[in-house]
Amino acid sequence: MPPRRRSRARVARRVKAWFPTFIYEAPLLPGGAAALNRSLLADCRKLREVDEEGLRWCRKNYPDGYTSYASHSRLHQTFSTFTTLARHIDRHVKAFARALDFAADDQRHRLEMTDCWVNVMPRHAVHSLHLHPLATISGTYYLKTPRGCSTIRFEDPRLDRMMASPPRRPDARPENKQQIAYDVRAGHLVLFESWLRHEVRPSTVDEERVSVSFNYNWF
Ligand code: NI
Repeated sequence: MPPRRRSRARVARRVKAWFPTFIYEAPLLPGGAAALNRSLLADCRKLREVDEEGLRWCRKNYPDGYTSYASHSRLHQTFSTFTTLARHIDRHVKAFARALDFAADDQRHRLEMTDCWVNVMPRHAVHSLHLHPLATISGTYYLKTPRGCSTIRFEDPRLDRMMASPPRRPDARPENKQQIAYDVRAGHLVLFESWLRHEVRPSTVDEERVSVSFNYNWF
């Protein structure tokens, strides 16, 4: 091995990663979820047609888009299609909790879905940087992801403490990046711990990007 590579290998052995941030991404069902997504999309459309309170809230707080966040935020308890979806998501949340070594995954505590709402984002709709207070695990399941639609972007949770920290090289290793974007795919879900800040940048395509977001808490 050339000396430079040998020296890099030695440094790599001396540096250990602690306190990493984990993000989970998977297809909801191994064989795809096209039929379930069709039913969920039909229910989303029906909901938007009748949700006057939600539409009023969106005009003020979610320009160009529609979300049931402020009006119907427990869809898993009100629509049977969403109850089915929640049952499938439960399995992924359990697997993620195991990977995080949560003690909340044993007999004493349990993780339960507390909120579940829909987001419809046409062109220009945006979801600025935020986190989900009062929740343990949050995530999004994608129903409709037109070509060119916005990713979901995550920010290094330590960014506000990085005083005098140099910027990272463009070719930085993935674990050293300060932002990471996930391409979104219909039928897939993304899970993260609720303190992790994330955003969806303005949509540049006309066709609607439709997703279902949710929170889990432990009891
Ligand atoms: Ni969010």
